[in-house]
Amino acid sequence: MDRIRIRGGNRLVGDIPISGAKNAALPLMVASLLTEEPLVLANVPHLADIAQMAEILGLLGVSIEQNGTASSAGAPGRTLTLTAKTIAQTTAPYDLVRKMRASFFVLGPLLARAGHAKVSLPGGCAIGPRPVDFHIQGLEALGARITLEDGYVIAEAPGGLKGGRYRFPHVSVGATENVMMAATLAKGTTVLENAALEPEIADLGACLIAMGAEIEGLGTRTLTIAGKPRLHGARHTVLPDRIETGTYAFAVAAAGGEVELIGARADTVGAIIPLLRSAGVSIGETNRGIKVARNGAHFTGFEVTTEPYPGFPTDLQAQLMALAATANGVSHITETIFENRFMHVPELTRLGAKIHVDGQSATVTGVQALHGAPVMATDLRASVGLVIAGLVAEGETIVSRIYHLDRGFEHIEEKLGRCGADIVRLKD
Ligand code: EPZ
Repeated sequence: MDRIRIRGGNRLVGDIPISGAKNAALPLMVASLLTEEPLVLANVPHLADIAQMAEILGLLGVSIEQNGTASSAGAPGRTLTLTAKTIAQTTAPYDLVRKMRASFFVLGPLLARAGHAKVSLPGGCAIGPRPVDFHIQGLEALGARITLEDGYVIAEAPGGLKGGRYRFPHVSVGATENVMMAATLAKGTTVLENAALEPEIADLGACLIAMGAEIEGLGTRTLTIAGKPRLHGARHTVLPDRIETGTYAFAVAAAGGEVELIGARADTVGAIIPLLRSAGVSIGETNRGIKVARNGAHFTGFEVTTEPYPGFPTDLQAQLMALAATANGVSHITETIFENRFMHVPELTRLGAKIHVDGQSATVTGVQALHGAPVMATDLRASVGLVIAGLVAEGETIVSRIYHLDRGFEHIEEKLGRCGADIVRLKD
């Protein structure tokens, strides 16, 4: 298994192209199930999760053509053309769904297009149990009959879905996407309340509208979707990845230096800009993206609670903790989205971080220096938190199990390396 070796201590100077957002691209690929015409998606990142989604969609009958290269060299990412001329099968098997939870998003579109779907329950994962009850209730509100059998969700809507009203009991990105996609082909109007506001929802909504859907309220908590008998093909460019943007911004804040994040969009990064500014890091918009700089002056600790957008994202919590590890003073970080998202703590501790966890809150007392050590990645965002810590640590840090990293960060060693980091992938 590949590992990453980092020799810490270098400042980061230069620019980094930001890739298309993984968490936008995944549901956008699924939207191809809603029409028999081609859906062309530009700026799709080159990631293991995208390949995994392509595999599951292929099984369901979507033909996928790929053009262009990864965005690492500054070129716009790849273009995928997805065509679901016919639905070849309506079952998404356990073996594929368990590998990536986003596969569960096929439930709504399959049901809306084919009248039935059988999709494996994804099960828990490293960051917590992650139930799918809101996806199921939302589709039931559109008239679906849903049963659970042998670990599968079996959904039927023989006469088609019908518009309905559903209030998500708690904000859910995936459930909003799943039910919104299904509602575009329902008969009549659907109202979804307490919908997620994450920029990936608006990106999916914009693509669905380009495919002929009628959706009002994108960017608000209430979505009104007037169902259509059919959608058509469209072309859409995936928005830049706000989590990748925040990750590199934190890397610069931690290691020091000055980096322009090319293509990053300040209007999608929510709480990150005010947070970094309050900690003493310089960050602002440029005509090419966002520039982050920390020259000399140290940064202070912070108090952060993860929340649905526009609050601080759970997907940046591990990276923030790595930053907090060498801040001036004490930081308090509370995780409210997932139950088990502090697995990076023992690994950061191995590098010399001082962290005390009490339930869902962590107190991080900044230390003068971290020291390199072998560490292990446990999930996608935790692993990149370890990379940030490695950039700061004195000596050599080896991060193993980096297949987690390859799920969500395109060419990370190349992107950091071009800014002066001493980081290499060790092939086994
Ligand atoms: C999306 O997951 C992202 N994944 C996650 O990114 C991200 O951490 C998460 O949103 C929160 O921002 C994709 O977009 C593919 P949720 P999702 O439904 O949709 C509970 C990464 O590293 N809940 O918004 O699965 C749930 O348990 C990943 O890229 C229910 O109780 O997250 C959680 O506590 C990891 N019932 C909360 O809601 C449901 O039916 C929010 O989860 C659905 C969710």
